[in-house]
Amino acid sequence: MTVSLRYHLSFLFLIICTAVEARPVPVSRSGLVGNAIAEFIPVGFDISKTPSLILQKEPQIKSSVPADWGIVPEFSVNDGKASAVVRLKGDVSLYGGGEVTGPLLRNGQTIKLWNTDNGAYGTDNGKRLYQTHPWVLGVRKDGTAFGVLFDSSWKAELTTNSDKIEYNAEGGALFRVFVINRKSPQEVLKGLAELTGTMAMPPRWALGYHQCRFSYGTEEKVRSIANTFREKNIPCDAIWMDIDYMEGYRVFTFNNKNFPNPKKLNDDLHQKGFKSVYMIDPGVKVDKNYWVYQSGTANDVWVKQPDGKEYHGKVWPGDCAFPDFTMPRTRKWWSGLYKDFVSTGIDGIWNDMNEPAVNDNELAADLRLGTMPYNTPHRGGGNLPAGNHLLYHNAYGRFMVEASRNGILAVNPEKRPFILTRANLLGGQRYAATWTGDNLADPRFMKVSVPMSITLGLSGQPFSGPDIGGFLENTSGELWAQWIGFGTLLPFARGHACAGTNDKEPWAFGPEIENTSRIALERRYRLLPYLYTLFYKAHTTGLPIMSPVFFADLKDARLRSEEQAFMLGSNLLVVPAFAKNPALPTGIWENLHLINGEETDAYQAKLLIKGGSIIPAGKVIQNTEEKSLDKLTLYVCLDSKGQANGELYWDAGDGRGFNKGNNATLKFHAATQNGATKISLASQSGKYPVNNEIKQINAVIVKNGKAYYGSGNLKTGVIIKSY
Ligand code: NOJ
Repeated sequence: MTVSLRYHLSFLFLIICTAVEARPVPVSRSGLVGNAIAEFIPVGFDISKTPSLILQKEPQIKSSVPADWGIVPEFSVNDGKASAVVRLKGDVSLYGGGEVTGPLLRNGQTIKLWNTDNGAYGTDNGKRLYQTHPWVLGVRKDGTAFGVLFDSSWKAELTTNSDKIEYNAEGGALFRVFVINRKSPQEVLKGLAELTGTMAMPPRWALGYHQCRFSYGTEEKVRSIANTFREKNIPCDAIWMDIDYMEGYRVFTFNNKNFPNPKKLNDDLHQKGFKSVYMIDPGVKVDKNYWVYQSGTANDVWVKQPDGKEYHGKVWPGDCAFPDFTMPRTRKWWSGLYKDFVSTGIDGIWNDMNEPAVNDNELAADLRLGTMPYNTPHRGGGNLPAGNHLLYHNAYGRFMVEASRNGILAVNPEKRPFILTRANLLGGQRYAATWTGDNLADPRFMKVSVPMSITLGLSGQPFSGPDIGGFLENTSGELWAQWIGFGTLLPFARGHACAGTNDKEPWAFGPEIENTSRIALERRYRLLPYLYTLFYKAHTTGLPIMSPVFFADLKDARLRSEEQAFMLGSNLLVVPAFAKNPALPTGIWENLHLINGEETDAYQAKLLIKGGSIIPAGKVIQNTEEKSLDKLTLYVCLDSKGQANGELYWDAGDGRGFNKGNNATLKFHAATQNGATKISLASQSGKYPVNNEIKQINAVIVKNGKAYYGSGNLKTGVIIKSY
């Protein structure tokens, strides 16, 4: 062959390849599936190749997409990989992407969507974390917003550039894209919840403080930790059992020597107003004499290799088999394992290592995946096709927590399950809360914990928080104090510590920092009525509990990248002590003081109440079973017209009655006339007899840095005259 012919042939080959590499795929079907929610389906989309593991239910197209819709994805298959691009016009601030490190404002970021056990992740560019949220929220200059949901669990990369959002999946199968286009980011987040569901209402105790360590290794140690909380009057609701309570890390067992009587331990904890949370990992020790392994084998639930042999990977107990959660019978089997376990009086479950994380360090560096090989088959069943690990990996944790939740519910149908999960997929907020994994005891990790949790909230998961104090490495008193000073104001508040690190309980750093911790926790417990109201709102609407500051003023461009301060609901602004020159919203904001001594404690976050709002607060209690409301305090910050409004949601705190009307929503209003302000109940709905609990109402008007007090009850309201 002559050089020239070879040149021409290779040129032709290049043209063919290029054509194959970027094959645009037209949209075959599009339509509105909800209020301002459009679905776009590419030609060749096959739901049996890319099943929807994210949506709550299959949406129905109701009408066509309006001609001026604007945000239309372009699909293509590049080099055997399916992609979608959404081109953006104008100035758009981008957010979301789920569990990410780096900045809150996501313009110019790329993340990998591949759930990974990524301890001590980088704080600037940690690309792979434990969860997958193929979702981007865009906010335009005028405050209107849109959201783009790539309905796929494939291994993928998500790039959020100012001119385009790009989602590239490692798999040839095409997927659908949903676009929500509404008047504000809050409305877009409600739309996301319409598609993917909301967090189930947690039991009230889950809003309390949680104390954890890897591990409190004996029943005695657990009791002594619990007793110390009570002796020192430091509020706490739950003590956590990490892996060492098990027999040789075998899930669903208890260590005979160190945890000989879990029922008694749980009863004793309950007596003292604590709940217990126990860890369950997905890896099941390969041990022919172990009932869980035997039963899994008998039910044929294990993940197999392509050659049909059981897949084994190393986790804490050594070689483990892994449930293939894509099979309905596996999920049913897994649910059933909880029966005897939870019947010992366990209140909550912690599902960890469920990316799934596999220790494959002995493999060559280029093969180390930290999980199952990509070509590991999953058998599927029901609505789910068989598929490989590239398709199902990101859904492994989500399937596991769905099965765990069903198992716990079956044991205690009248209780609200509480599950914490490390791995998840968008939509999995329906089953479990989350935390931000193995952070480091380092100020950078403390700071990044704020945008991380905000971003989860902007991605459908409202119930999250970091390991307060930092998990890996020793924590200094200074860092603990800084962290707890605002960490108790995040939706999930838990202190945790890795094996081999120093003690990280609120009293571990000496009396002064113990006092700082007590104040920080007392503030959380005083805010319980407000927080519980926000949780209910998140459960019913999908709105986040913790939001970015720019939610306070969508048109103020200064606020778009603020990530040190944050909002709790729309009426409370939290400014951590570490914050340097935070961008704060204009308007009336007054300092809110909840606990004596907090003003002089340099570690406490600043709390600011918004003009025009009323915040319901309870008493300082030691755990959420105590009566929070028998003195309800209404903190009032009047607007320029001397008015304010606020709301309290309350119910029994557990159980399912709240779904059947056994709840109470109280709306409060403050109005000013002739120099006197009357704060009264404007409306009340629901059957829950909250009036029996609220014996007295104290009202506090905060104005120009001063506080003015009055008291009354639900019937009389409160009148405050002289200020
Ligand atoms: C990894 C988890 O991220 C961590 O929180 C836990 O303590 C350890 N596994 C041990 O179970």
